[in-house]
Amino acid sequence: MVNVAILGFGTVGSGVAEVLTKNGGLIDHRVDDLVRLKYILDVREFPDSPYKDCFVKDFSVIENDPEVNIVVETIGGAKIALEFTTRALKAGKSVVTSNKELVATHGYELLQLAREHGCSYLFEASVGGGIPILRPLTSCLAANELTQITGILNGTTNYILTRMIKAGLTFDAALKEAQANGYAEQDPTADVDGHDACRKICILSALAFGEHVYPEQVPTQGIRDVSLEDVAYADSKGYKIKLLGRGIRQPEGKVCAFVAPHLVPNDNPLAGVEDVFNAIAVTGNAIGDVMFYGRGAGKLPTASAVVADVIDIAKDLKKDRHNSWGPGAPDLVVSSDILASRWYVRADGTADQAKQACGEIELLSRSGAPAGEVAFLTQPMTEPQVMECLKGMPVHSRFRVLE
Ligand code: NDP
Ligand code: HSE
Repeated sequence: MVNVAILGFGTVGSGVAEVLTKNGGLIDHRVDDLVRLKYILDVREFPDSPYKDCFVKDFSVIENDPEVNIVVETIGGAKIALEFTTRALKAGKSVVTSNKELVATHGYELLQLAREHGCSYLFEASVGGGIPILRPLTSCLAANELTQITGILNGTTNYILTRMIKAGLTFDAALKEAQANGYAEQDPTADVDGHDACRKICILSALAFGEHVYPEQVPTQGIRDVSLEDVAYADSKGYKIKLLGRGIRQPEGKVCAFVAPHLVPNDNPLAGVEDVFNAIAVTGNAIGDVMFYGRGAGKLPTASAVVADVIDIAKDLKKDRHNSWGPGAPDLVVSSDILASRWYVRADGTADQAKQACGEIELLSRSGAPAGEVAFLTQPMTEPQVMECLKGMPVHSRFRVLE
């Protein structure tokens, strides 16, 4: 018998209980053992829950029960979740989580701790919700030197952008819908301002390039600066605006990682990723380009990834999963200033002023544009170069174009 405890009975935790129950027969068959939900820890009362007999309020009940093999941490954040995860691993219990904040900030030390105590720390659900991405990255693509990762990594912001464009919703109305669907973080500014995508590109970069990348090392811009005017201009030339997390291998083991809105050409599959869906494009030196696509948030898709990790551990409780990376370094991440690309610019001014400032440009148009507004695409240049060119112009929006 393999016993599981869930910490945090919210959107994801309740989905994990549901999947463990609904698919119990096939899970037992695949594990070749009985996998049972023994405890659920939450601060709230759930008197009407079908799992009401499992609820406990004191983590030490779980920590001290030698029958508990696997702890699922779905509380979120990096405070109490860090304490409970540390205590569970020290007690020799494997931990499975969807908590990207914790993995991105403390992943290195928690993986070390798991190894020291002969257990596992798995977090497939922490990136891309239900999309299988971390295991394929480290296992199916293990023969490659991975050179680049580009992803739509946040379901909430992709949902907001899609609903604003397709259904004409306001930003606030679209965000409310995302929250009602259980996609958003407890504090949705983590979605809107790009911090959630930042945590995910940190985890992907660590796995792909081998060293811990910390969120504070990664320049991050969210979607607050993306207006419907920008969307219309981009559309006029066959582009969609998407919030991308990017990780690019650099010489001497360095990494260039950042999060920012980009104009994505319609012939790039990332442009067609809508609603809560996420997609992650990975480039390897043997496989070339490969892409992973699916629901990036939500109760059951995320639970699907969590329970897959539970099954993996339950199949062999003592297996050393070698899921680790180096500690990182203060100078590991190089600035995205080195990266040349075309730029989308919307500014006050005329076409002539834009040409004078930036040289050869491609002008964009939209219906209802006020006199004195100009939007254009530049030739490839670095961010410091484009900022220097635009010094004299009042700029409203400036985004990279994904080549
Ligand atoms: P929720 O807020 O829905 O669930 C968290 C649960 O933990 C709540 O029931 C909360 O209670 C409870 N909780 C808070 N503090 C404690 C505590 N000290 N002890 C026990 N329980 C506690 O969050 P989600 O399920 O949405 O997210 C959980 C994690 O999964 C987060 O890290 C999130 O980033 C991640 N994630 C979420 C996805 C999604 O689609 N929602 C997808 C992928 C990852 P209360 O509500 O009373 O505070
Ligand atoms: N808030 C996150 C998102 C949950 O919207 O992508 C999934 O990690």
